[in-house]
Amino acid sequence: MFFRQFLNDETACASYLFGCNTAAELAVVDAHVDLVESYISAAEAQGSRISAVLETHLQADHVSGLPKLVERTGATAYLPEGSGVDFGHHPLADGELLKLGNTVIQAVATPGHATVHHAYLVTDHRRGEEPWVVLTGDALLVGDVGRPDLHASGDRSVEEMARTLYRSITGRLLALPDHLLVYPGHFAGSVCGRGLSGHPASTIGFERRHNEALQVESEEEFVAALLEDIPPAPAQQAQIVATNRAGRPLVETP
Ligand SMILES: [Fe+2]
Repeated sequence: MFFRQFLNDETACASYLFGCNTAAELAVVDAHVDLVESYISAAEAQGSRISAVLETHLQADHVSGLPKLVERTGATAYLPEGSGVDFGHHPLADGELLKLGNTVIQAVATPGHATVHHAYLVTDHRRGEEPWVVLTGDALLVGDVGRPDLHASGDRSVEEMARTLYRSITGRLLALPDHLLVYPGHFAGSVCGRGLSGHPASTIGFERRHNEALQVESEEEFVAALLEDIPPAPAQQAQIVATNRAGRPLVETP
Protein backbone atom coordinates (compact mmCIF):
# COMPACT_ATOMS: atom_id res chain seq x y z
CA MET A 1 0.00 0.00 0.00
CA PHE A 2 1.17 3.48 -0.82
CA PHE A 3 0.40 5.91 2.04
CA ARG A 4 1.31 9.59 2.47
CA GLN A 5 0.18 12.11 5.03
CA PHE A 6 -0.10 15.74 3.91
CA LEU A 7 0.11 18.49 6.52
CA ASN A 8 -1.17 22.03 6.09
CA ASP A 9 0.49 24.11 8.81
CA GLU A 10 -1.67 27.18 8.27
CA THR A 11 -4.86 25.42 9.38
CA ALA A 12 -3.16 22.47 11.15
CA CYS A 13 -5.03 20.02 8.92
CA ALA A 14 -3.86 16.54 8.02
CA SER A 15 -5.01 14.83 4.84
CA TYR A 16 -4.13 11.55 3.19
CA LEU A 17 -3.27 10.05 -0.18
CA PHE A 18 -3.12 6.27 -0.17
CA GLY A 19 -4.12 3.16 -2.02
CA CYS A 20 -2.89 0.43 -4.30
CA ASN A 21 -0.17 1.14 -6.86
CA THR A 22 -0.61 -2.36 -8.33
CA ALA A 23 -4.15 -1.45 -9.37
CA ALA A 24 -2.92 2.17 -9.88
CA GLU A 25 -5.83 3.50 -7.80
CA LEU A 26 -5.45 5.96 -4.95
CA ALA A 27 -7.84 7.75 -2.59
CA VAL A 28 -7.59 11.13 -0.91
CA VAL A 29 -9.21 11.63 2.49
CA ASP A 30 -10.09 15.14 3.77
CA ALA A 31 -8.52 16.99 0.84
CA HIS A 32 -7.41 20.54 1.64
CA VAL A 33 -8.12 23.13 -1.06
CA ASP A 34 -4.53 24.42 -0.96
CA LEU A 35 -3.03 20.97 -1.59
CA VAL A 36 -5.01 19.81 -4.61
CA GLU A 37 -2.05 20.06 -7.01
CA SER A 38 0.22 18.34 -4.45
CA TYR A 39 -2.06 15.27 -4.29
CA ILE A 40 -2.22 15.12 -8.07
CA SER A 41 1.53 15.33 -8.59
CA ALA A 42 2.21 12.81 -5.80
CA ALA A 43 -0.23 10.37 -7.44
CA GLU A 44 1.33 10.96 -10.86
CA ALA A 45 4.78 10.26 -9.42
CA GLN A 46 3.43 6.85 -8.34
CA GLY A 47 2.00 6.18 -11.79
CA SER A 48 -1.47 5.93 -10.24
CA ARG A 49 -4.70 7.85 -10.58
CA ILE A 50 -6.82 9.35 -7.86
CA SER A 51 -10.09 7.48 -8.24
CA ALA A 52 -11.79 8.29 -4.92
CA VAL A 53 -12.00 11.43 -2.79
CA LEU A 54 -13.54 10.96 0.65
CA GLU A 55 -14.53 13.30 3.45
CA THR A 56 -14.77 12.18 7.05
CA HIS A 57 -17.35 14.96 7.53
CA LEU A 58 -18.49 18.35 6.27
CA GLN A 59 -15.59 20.59 7.32
CA ALA A 60 -16.21 23.77 9.32
CA ASP A 61 -12.67 25.10 9.75
CA HIS A 62 -11.18 24.96 6.26
CA VAL A 63 -12.28 24.81 2.65
CA SER A 64 -12.33 21.28 1.29
CA GLY A 65 -10.31 20.41 -1.79
CA LEU A 66 -12.82 17.70 -2.76
CA PRO A 67 -14.77 19.54 -5.50
CA LYS A 68 -11.62 20.78 -7.24
CA LEU A 69 -9.90 17.42 -6.96
CA VAL A 70 -12.94 15.61 -8.38
CA GLU A 71 -13.08 18.11 -11.24
CA ARG A 72 -9.35 17.74 -12.00
CA THR A 73 -9.18 13.93 -11.77
CA GLY A 74 -12.65 12.60 -12.55
CA ALA A 75 -12.57 10.74 -9.20
CA THR A 76 -15.77 9.76 -7.40
CA ALA A 77 -16.69 11.84 -4.33
CA TYR A 78 -17.64 9.88 -1.21
CA LEU A 79 -19.24 11.44 1.85
CA PRO A 80 -20.93 9.92 4.89
CA GLU A 81 -24.59 9.22 4.23
CA GLY A 82 -26.68 12.21 5.30
CA SER A 83 -23.94 14.83 4.89
CA GLY A 84 -26.46 17.18 3.25
CA VAL A 85 -24.23 18.53 0.51
CA ASP A 86 -25.56 20.02 -2.71
CA PHE A 87 -23.29 18.25 -5.20
CA GLY A 88 -23.19 14.75 -6.67
CA HIS A 89 -21.49 12.11 -4.56
CA HIS A 90 -21.73 8.52 -3.40
CA PRO A 91 -23.20 8.44 0.12
CA LEU A 92 -21.27 5.94 2.23
CA ALA A 93 -23.27 3.89 4.71
CA ASP A 94 -21.83 2.69 8.03
CA GLY A 95 -19.78 -0.43 7.33
CA GLU A 96 -19.67 0.09 3.56
CA LEU A 97 -16.49 -1.02 1.80
CA LEU A 98 -14.55 0.78 -0.91
CA LYS A 99 -11.96 -1.33 -2.74
CA LEU A 100 -8.87 0.09 -4.42
CA GLY A 101 -7.02 -3.03 -5.55
CA ASN A 102 -5.35 -4.53 -2.47
CA THR A 103 -6.37 -1.59 -0.30
CA VAL A 104 -9.84 -1.71 1.24
CA ILE A 105 -11.48 1.18 3.06
CA GLN A 106 -14.37 0.58 5.47
CA ALA A 107 -16.62 3.38 6.73
CA VAL A 108 -17.16 3.48 10.51
CA ALA A 109 -19.92 5.84 11.63
CA THR A 110 -18.46 8.03 14.39
CA PRO A 111 -20.77 11.06 14.81
CA GLY A 112 -20.44 13.63 17.59
CA HIS A 113 -17.97 16.19 16.29
CA ALA A 114 -20.28 16.45 13.28
CA THR A 115 -23.81 15.06 13.09
CA VAL A 116 -22.60 12.67 10.40
CA HIS A 117 -18.96 11.67 10.52
CA HIS A 118 -17.13 8.56 9.38
CA ALA A 119 -13.77 7.22 10.40
CA TYR A 120 -12.12 5.05 7.74
CA LEU A 121 -10.57 1.72 8.57
CA VAL A 122 -7.90 0.73 6.07
CA THR A 123 -6.81 -2.83 5.31
CA ASP A 124 -3.83 -3.58 3.11
CA HIS A 125 -4.39 -7.11 1.82
CA ARG A 126 -0.76 -7.30 0.75
CA ARG A 127 0.14 -7.22 4.46
CA GLY A 128 -2.73 -8.96 6.22
CA GLU A 129 -6.44 -9.63 6.29
CA GLU A 130 -7.15 -7.28 9.21
CA PRO A 131 -7.23 -3.46 9.34
CA TRP A 132 -3.88 -1.74 9.85
CA VAL A 133 -4.76 1.96 9.93
CA VAL A 134 -7.72 4.06 11.03
CA LEU A 135 -8.24 7.57 9.72
CA THR A 136 -10.17 9.13 12.58
CA GLY A 137 -11.10 12.53 11.08
CA ASP A 138 -12.09 14.91 13.87
CA ALA A 139 -13.61 12.26 16.18
CA LEU A 140 -10.42 11.02 17.84
CA LEU A 141 -7.40 13.32 17.61
CA VAL A 142 -3.88 12.75 18.93
CA GLY A 143 -4.06 13.94 22.55
CA ASP A 144 -7.70 15.08 22.41
CA VAL A 145 -11.10 14.48 20.84
CA GLY A 146 -13.02 16.69 18.39
CA ARG A 147 -14.97 19.65 19.72
CA PRO A 148 -18.73 18.99 19.92
CA ASP A 149 -20.11 22.46 19.24
CA LEU A 150 -19.35 23.37 15.61
CA HIS A 151 -22.15 21.31 14.09
CA ALA A 152 -24.65 21.55 16.96
CA SER A 153 -27.90 23.32 16.18
CA GLY A 154 -31.63 23.15 16.84
CA ASP A 155 -32.54 19.98 18.68
CA ARG A 156 -28.94 18.76 18.58
CA SER A 157 -27.44 20.56 21.56
CA VAL A 158 -23.72 20.74 22.21
CA GLU A 159 -24.25 18.40 25.16
CA GLU A 160 -26.06 15.86 22.99
CA MET A 161 -23.24 16.03 20.43
CA ALA A 162 -20.69 15.43 23.21
CA ARG A 163 -22.68 12.37 24.37
CA THR A 164 -22.83 11.08 20.80
CA LEU A 165 -19.06 11.58 20.45
CA TYR A 166 -18.44 9.64 23.66
CA ARG A 167 -20.46 6.70 22.33
CA SER A 168 -18.69 6.82 18.95
CA ILE A 169 -15.26 6.84 20.54
CA THR A 170 -15.87 4.24 23.22
CA GLY A 171 -18.21 2.03 21.17
CA ARG A 172 -16.44 2.12 17.81
CA LEU A 173 -12.88 3.50 17.90
CA LEU A 174 -11.71 2.20 21.29
CA ALA A 175 -13.22 -1.16 20.32
CA LEU A 176 -10.40 -1.47 17.78
CA PRO A 177 -7.18 -3.32 18.65
CA ASP A 178 -4.45 -1.31 20.39
CA HIS A 179 -1.99 -1.73 17.53
CA LEU A 180 -4.16 0.12 14.97
CA LEU A 181 -2.36 3.19 13.64
CA VAL A 182 -4.35 6.39 14.18
CA TYR A 183 -4.15 9.18 11.60
CA PRO A 184 -6.32 12.17 12.56
CA GLY A 185 -7.72 15.17 10.70
CA HIS A 186 -5.78 17.77 12.72
CA PHE A 187 -2.68 18.33 14.81
CA ALA A 188 -1.49 21.01 17.28
CA GLY A 189 -2.51 24.51 16.20
CA SER A 190 -6.00 23.51 15.02
CA VAL A 191 -9.10 25.15 16.45
CA CYS A 192 -10.87 21.77 16.26
CA GLY A 193 -9.42 20.59 19.59
CA ARG A 194 -7.59 21.78 22.72
CA GLY A 195 -4.69 19.59 23.80
CA LEU A 196 -3.62 18.27 20.40
CA SER A 197 -0.15 16.86 19.96
CA GLY A 198 2.27 18.24 17.40
CA HIS A 199 2.89 14.64 16.35
CA PRO A 200 0.19 13.90 13.79
CA ALA A 201 -0.07 10.13 14.26
CA SER A 202 -0.60 7.66 17.09
CA THR A 203 -2.11 4.27 17.90
CA ILE A 204 -5.40 3.28 19.48
CA GLY A 205 -3.50 1.80 22.44
CA PHE A 206 -1.43 4.92 23.10
CA GLU A 207 -4.51 7.16 22.93
CA ARG A 208 -6.42 4.76 25.18
CA ARG A 209 -3.68 5.17 27.79
CA HIS A 210 -2.57 8.76 27.36
CA ASN A 211 -5.27 10.84 25.67
CA GLU A 212 -6.42 13.16 28.46
CA ALA A 213 -10.00 13.40 27.17
CA LEU A 214 -10.32 9.61 27.50
CA GLN A 215 -9.07 9.39 31.10
CA VAL A 216 -12.63 9.49 32.45
CA GLU A 217 -14.77 7.07 34.40
CA SER A 218 -18.10 7.80 32.72
CA GLU A 219 -19.99 9.50 29.91
CA GLU A 220 -20.99 12.23 32.38
CA GLU A 221 -17.39 13.01 33.20
CA PHE A 222 -16.39 13.02 29.51
CA VAL A 223 -19.24 15.39 28.61
CA ALA A 224 -18.60 17.76 31.53
CA ALA A 225 -14.90 18.06 30.67
CA LEU A 226 -15.62 18.61 26.97
CA LEU A 227 -18.22 21.33 27.58
CA GLU A 228 -16.09 23.15 30.11
CA ASP A 229 -13.35 24.08 27.74
CA ILE A 230 -14.56 24.85 24.21
CA PRO A 231 -12.09 26.90 22.13
CA PRO A 232 -13.23 29.92 20.05
CA ALA A 233 -15.01 29.03 16.81
CA PRO A 234 -12.99 29.09 13.58
CA ALA A 235 -12.94 32.36 11.63
CA GLN A 236 -15.53 32.44 8.82
CA GLN A 237 -17.10 29.20 10.10
CA ALA A 238 -20.53 29.83 8.54
CA GLN A 239 -19.09 30.75 5.12
CA ILE A 240 -16.74 27.75 5.16
CA VAL A 241 -19.58 25.33 5.95
CA ALA A 242 -21.78 26.91 3.24
CA THR A 243 -18.90 26.68 0.76
CA ASN A 244 -18.21 23.04 1.54
CA ARG A 245 -21.91 22.19 1.39
CA ALA A 246 -22.23 23.80 -2.03
CA GLY A 247 -18.90 22.51 -3.36
CA ARG A 248 -17.82 25.91 -4.67
CA PRO A 249 -14.91 28.29 -3.94
CA LEU A 250 -14.97 30.37 -0.75
CA VAL A 251 -16.53 33.79 -1.16
CA GLU A 252 -14.59 36.09 1.16
CA THR A 253 -16.73 38.44 3.23
CA PRO A 254 -15.47 42.04 3.52
FE1 LIG B 1 -14.09 19.17 11.74
